[in-house]
Amino acid sequence: MSAVPVNHAAASPYAVELKDLRLSFGKTEIIRGANLAVAPGERVAIIGPNGAGKSTLFNLISGRFGPSAGEILLNGRRIDGKKPFEINRMGLARSFQITNIFGRLSVFENLRCGVLWSMGYRYSFWNRLSRLRDANDRADELMKMIKLDKKRDTLAMNLTYAEQRALEIGITIAGGADVVLLDEPTAGMSKSETRRFIELIREVTVGKTLLTVEHDMGVVFGLADKIAVLVYGEVIAFDKPDAVRANPAVQEAYLGSVLAEQQAGEGVKA
Ligand SMILES: Nc1ncnc2c1ncn2[C@@H]1O[C@H](COP(=O)(O)OP(=O)(O)OP(=O)(O)O)[C@@H](O)[C@H]1O
Ligand SMILES: [Mg+2]
Repeated sequence: MSAVPVNHAAASPYAVELKDLRLSFGKTEIIRGANLAVAPGERVAIIGPNGAGKSTLFNLISGRFGPSAGEILLNGRRIDGKKPFEINRMGLARSFQITNIFGRLSVFENLRCGVLWSMGYRYSFWNRLSRLRDANDRADELMKMIKLDKKRDTLAMNLTYAEQRALEIGITIAGGADVVLLDEPTAGMSKSETRRFIELIREVTVGKTLLTVEHDMGVVFGLADKIAVLVYGEVIAFDKPDAVRANPAVQEAYLGSVLAEQQAGEGVKA
């Protein structure tokens, strides 16, 4: 047997862990004791009714809000109470339900800004030249990943909606975060755009841990390794897609009505 020392403090089986997390706005408790443990490399879809607290949960994990109680761990380290940029520096990046790209900058410039912003913390000022070269290379690499290399010099405001969302994902992952949070990345897309976009998300998150909020059940069941069901600020189920689909509590609280609605919707469109 080898006697390799193990650093137990750093060793954690989870990329993201929520322990009895709570958040109140005034007298109203919005997140009510949420628990979740996401393994590294897992793709997790968070589903649940409107107003269940999905975006709020992302705001907590990314540091925009501080919890009223409970713990948030990123790769085994406490991040609750830390600032968004500190959490980002520790390897977590998020996108927003509303897009936040710069319309008057080109695709390349948007990506380069994302890269430079994330590098700012790691590079000192006398390294500026190599930093710019690295940023250009990285922006080029990201542009290929999100399949916008043919639109390099197009202003972001002149891209299609789906291309803008792709650019946003590029900016989100620019800093090389290993945990990525996407809030409704396919919102507002057509079925075919959604299908392509999910493929893109799958490609750019290979080897990363993904948490995504999603309303389209087709997307959820196609993309996610596991599904977390959030209802009234609590995770009522967290399991593989088939197990979640068959869970009577989930059927009752959410899925039954949503699946019926989406199937009916597809029937009408067809
Ligand atoms: N900053 C805030 N101040 C007060 N209440 C808030 C705030 N942000 C969210 N809420 C409330 O918290 C609840 C959860 O909102 P949240 O946006 O997290 O829901 P969601 O699950 O993301 O819903 P959707 O599916 O519609 O995006 C809602 O009742 C909302 O009104
Ligand atoms: Mg939301």
